[in-house]
Amino acid sequence: MSHETKALFIIFGATGDLAHRKLYPAIYELYKKGYLSKSFAVIGTARREWSDDYFQEVVRDSIADGIESEEHAKEFSTHFRYQSHNVKDTAHYVTLKKLADELDEEYGLEGNRIFYLSMSPSFFGTITSHLKAQSLATDEGFNRVVIEKPFGTDFESSKELNDEINSSFAEDQLYRIDHYLGKEMVQNILALRFSNPLLENSWNKETIANFQVTLSEDLGVEERGEYYDKSGALRDMVQNHVLQVVGMLTMNRPDSFTPEDVRREKLAIIESLKTPVVTQDETTDFVRGQYSDSSDQKVKAYRNEDKVDPESLTETFVAGQITIDTDEWRDVPVYVRTGKRMAEKLSRIDIVFKETTSDLFNDSPSTLTIFINPDQGVELVINNKKIGPGMDLEPMTLASLRSKETLKNSPEAYEKLILDVLNGDETHFAHWGEVAESWKYVDQIRQTWDSFEDHIPFYPALSVGPAEANQLLERNGHHWVYTAE
Ligand SMILES: NC(=O)c1ccc[n+]([C@@H]2O[C@H](COP(=O)([O-])OP(=O)(O)OC[C@H]3O[C@@H](n4cnc5c(N)ncnc54)[C@H](OP(=O)(O)O)[C@@H]3O)[C@@H](O)[C@H]2O)c1
Repeated sequence: MSHETKALFIIFGATGDLAHRKLYPAIYELYKKGYLSKSFAVIGTARREWSDDYFQEVVRDSIADGIESEEHAKEFSTHFRYQSHNVKDTAHYVTLKKLADELDEEYGLEGNRIFYLSMSPSFFGTITSHLKAQSLATDEGFNRVVIEKPFGTDFESSKELNDEINSSFAEDQLYRIDHYLGKEMVQNILALRFSNPLLENSWNKETIANFQVTLSEDLGVEERGEYYDKSGALRDMVQNHVLQVVGMLTMNRPDSFTPEDVRREKLAIIESLKTPVVTQDETTDFVRGQYSDSSDQKVKAYRNEDKVDPESLTETFVAGQITIDTDEWRDVPVYVRTGKRMAEKLSRIDIVFKETTSDLFNDSPSTLTIFINPDQGVELVINNKKIGPGMDLEPMTLASLRSKETLKNSPEAYEKLILDVLNGDETHFAHWGEVAESWKYVDQIRQTWDSFEDHIPFYPALSVGPAEANQLLERNGHHWVYTAE
């Protein structure tokens, strides 16, 4: 039997998309696996006036794909209550506290509370100060606050938000979600790097030519045009997910997997990022793009999406060369790119090794690819002798991809992260220091882009992005390993 933690979840934004698509299914998986059994309850809150019965129906609907049986799903959903609540309204917190205390008593939860803020960040400060003022945070159990992205829109606003939240909750009570850190293959980067001397001893500037991080989505902005048009890919993806992955790839070996040790090493990387050169010519370290119609015109341009300014200059694609300004990594470019309406939905990391220095062979660089999503696994491409006379080479691929069955049974990022919250393990959450330094880095790019004339390069929807993203590597004699061909 798995270790069970008693807790009351209070989910703000319980009628929203994230709660339905990710949170309820994740909590159900934890229930199925025994991490939650009798001693847990969930209060969902939002403005809509739902009854408990209707809420429970919604929860059952959201988990329908993975249920053990109708009865099991029903039993699970009885742990859910709903409270209609406008987060700006003080009186509602009083009612909420009453309900929370009742459920605490009914399920024997010992005052343990998880406040999940699955709402627009503009409400985070209001909610946390009310949780404190109306005493929803208990004295006897743990009080943990889970915060969704985006954490601010630049360094200034994130600091303001952080100060506001810190006046009610301490840093070690905050769990800032970066769902990439919950992904199996992102966590696996540390296992691959530090449990295999073969890789650990090659993970350096002598052997590695460059790193390439690709986080690409095939979808457009869907219903999130209003948010996205103000955000853009740099804020939405680079500040958090991309820089976190870069940290995992290049951080020094932590002394242990405690949150302190892992965060210290990751922060050291983010703090040592060199100020990027951002220009409108080929000397630039960062380029951007926006999708136009697809070449067959079946997919519409970003500017024609719902709730997007028809003259928008918002970037839906970013590629960059990141330099880690340490003796170890200064000469090893870290190329990153992320975008919407790309050729494929995938996340992968390609590590390109150096060619041999001898004239013995006409060799190609070996590459190690870490597939994060939707495939998960590792592929190593090395040189191999071609059968026959002479010493000609051909590439040989050693690959291990997890099977469909394994993937089906392995936990989703949200499930892993919510379990970490229950266990009080902050290792895979973004610490304020990392958030602050990441914002400072991307703010420099944002400010320069905002000062440019009214111009943004376009790329056809369902492609790998604008030509500028290739030029970024070509100037160093490199090229993208993944080209979607
Ligand atoms: N959806 C995703 O895939 C995704 C991915 C990553 C991060 N996130 C982040 O997760 C958070 C939630 O996203 P979402 O997509 O679920 O948003 P959403 O669908 O717009 O949901 C927002 C929720 O907030 C509630 N709400 C709005 N104003 C309120 C108020 N004044 N008082 C009480 N409740 C209020 C809404 O319910 P009522 O209208 O009933 O009040 C709804 O439940 C956001 O921070 C988002 O950036 C979402």
